[in-house]
Amino acid sequence: MCGIVGYVGDSGSTLDVLLGGLSNLEYRGYDSAGVAVGGETLRVEKRAGELETLEAAVGSADRRRFEGPVGLGHTRWSTHGPPTDENAHPHTDEDGRVAVVHNGIVENYRDLRDELEAEGVAFTSETDTEVVPHLIARELRGEADPEAAVRAATERLEGSYALAVVIEGIDALFAARQDSPLVLGVGEGESFVASDVPAFLDHTRDVVYLDDGEFVRLDPGGWTVTDAEGRQVEKPVHTVEWEAEETGKSGYDHYTLKEIHEQPRSLRQCLSGRLDELGGRVTVEELDGIDAPASVQFVACGTSYHAALYGAQLLRDRGTPATAHYAHEYATAPAPIADGDLVIGVTQSGETADTLSALREAAGRGAETLVLTNVVGSTAARECDHAVYIRAGPEIGVAATKTFTSQLVGLNLLAARLAGGDRQRDLVDALRRVPDDVQAVLDESGAASVVEAFADSEAFFFLGRGLGYPVALEGALKFKEITYEHAEGFAAGELKHGPLALVTGETPVFAVVTGDGEAARKTIGNVKEVEARDAPVVVVTDGAAEAGRYADHVLEIPETDPRLAPLLANVQLQLVAYHRAARLDRSIDKPRHLAKSVTVE
Ligand code: G6P
Repeated sequence: MCGIVGYVGDSGSTLDVLLGGLSNLEYRGYDSAGVAVGGETLRVEKRAGELETLEAAVGSADRRRFEGPVGLGHTRWSTHGPPTDENAHPHTDEDGRVAVVHNGIVENYRDLRDELEAEGVAFTSETDTEVVPHLIARELRGEADPEAAVRAATERLEGSYALAVVIEGIDALFAARQDSPLVLGVGEGESFVASDVPAFLDHTRDVVYLDDGEFVRLDPGGWTVTDAEGRQVEKPVHTVEWEAEETGKSGYDHYTLKEIHEQPRSLRQCLSGRLDELGGRVTVEELDGIDAPASVQFVACGTSYHAALYGAQLLRDRGTPATAHYAHEYATAPAPIADGDLVIGVTQSGETADTLSALREAAGRGAETLVLTNVVGSTAARECDHAVYIRAGPEIGVAATKTFTSQLVGLNLLAARLAGGDRQRDLVDALRRVPDDVQAVLDESGAASVVEAFADSEAFFFLGRGLGYPVALEGALKFKEITYEHAEGFAAGELKHGPLALVTGETPVFAVVTGDGEAARKTIGNVKEVEARDAPVVVVTDGAAEAGRYADHVLEIPETDPRLAPLLANVQLQLVAYHRAARLDRSIDKPRHLAKSVTVE
């Protein structure tokens, strides 16, 4: 989704800071990019396509044209108008004196555009954003001072926005936030605004989290934050723990592969200080003082929704009623809430608009809210009553991998802590071992050779039962996201009720079969059903139920607690998707059409 970076400083390298920042925001997903550098003059360059296209355009121009102490950059993910040079940001006024980048949607842009066009303003793009520089220019013509002009223009906007503005002849940058992410980075003699921290992590780890309705002014000498009425707001400066090197590829071909291999470490971080091995209990500091809920409703989207399905079952298994809902459905058709209910948002970014909307809906109806997230200071973390962090570190690959497994571990901690029960010691032991178990899967996985066997297949099915069901859904989602091939996940028992019609000798079926209980035995029955229709079968299994006897290929995982076996199976399915996508030479880290952080509903 759109990425913003803004810079004011005396480094003499504004353009490089902007291009570096945009490159660090590429993971958000985008289809065009642009920069503006200001000071005495204002220069803008913008292009549809990859950042490389923009870099080539800037590189072929006289780079001295892009010197100045102030600048902004943008990666666009199209909402209003297709990806073209004209629709790329920054957008400018008619004289090219005001440049604006925007993330979000200006809902009243049609009315504003009509109003401006009636005054004779000529628009050059189809975007909602372009009204903003024209509104600012009109205020400047009315002799408002620059800051007042930007404020007056933002006051006219309805909808969501993170905005950054530079004006020719002014060594300052103005930015405002309403329902779209925007953070401030504070360095020595320089400051930054960005949609997300990695944009400026090469320069500073000191961050100010902005709230909705706040307005920022960055000058070479410092920064000020004011509220909607223009009163100065004291904002604490936080130091983020992420290291800049965590955002590099570390020799892997793709961020996605690097992040798959980082899981032993990210899971250790998630567990650090949370396992009381002597007492055989889990401790989650963030949950101190929270009562056991009467029931739990999870809200989430995408991969996080699959984690939510898993979390709901963990709680039900411990006797607490729990359901998982797509956040976008919940936002308009919420479930009834009773006293003592807890609504939990699962969102790695903490910025997914659909999930925020569902959480706000729940809070508005009196529910206590909690978010399980990766991003300290994210909107969800700040808005919810409680926040529990999964501590996975930055995830750059658009398709979630390490954040999913950290969510699964986080949900085990939450379930044990919120619903108690007497099965904590086994869980603590298994959680302690899980980073090593994941390492064993990574070291020994046969996923790369298994996908070779299916060179000509065009549809792939994934089956699971119980806690294996969300993992089957996630296996299929990862596969379709990065291979662009057709993949579907099913509850294993549901297959015979319809989807079996799709199964042929050309449709490989991946089945998650862990443990040797009733669920495993029944899933083996379902495996036999597809085998009888000639489908090639791959089982992902710990071997306990001897499911391998019914399969063409086996992807093994270590034996562990039944609650964690699906997590290990997921790592095998991540590798299946990755190797298939690599074989097809797909854009693995930035799959077509997808954005990492979807900040519109
Ligand atoms: C987008 C991403 C998915 C992600 C979903 C939820 O659709 O492409 O990979 O799972 O958003 O993101 P969240 O940040 O809320 O976990």
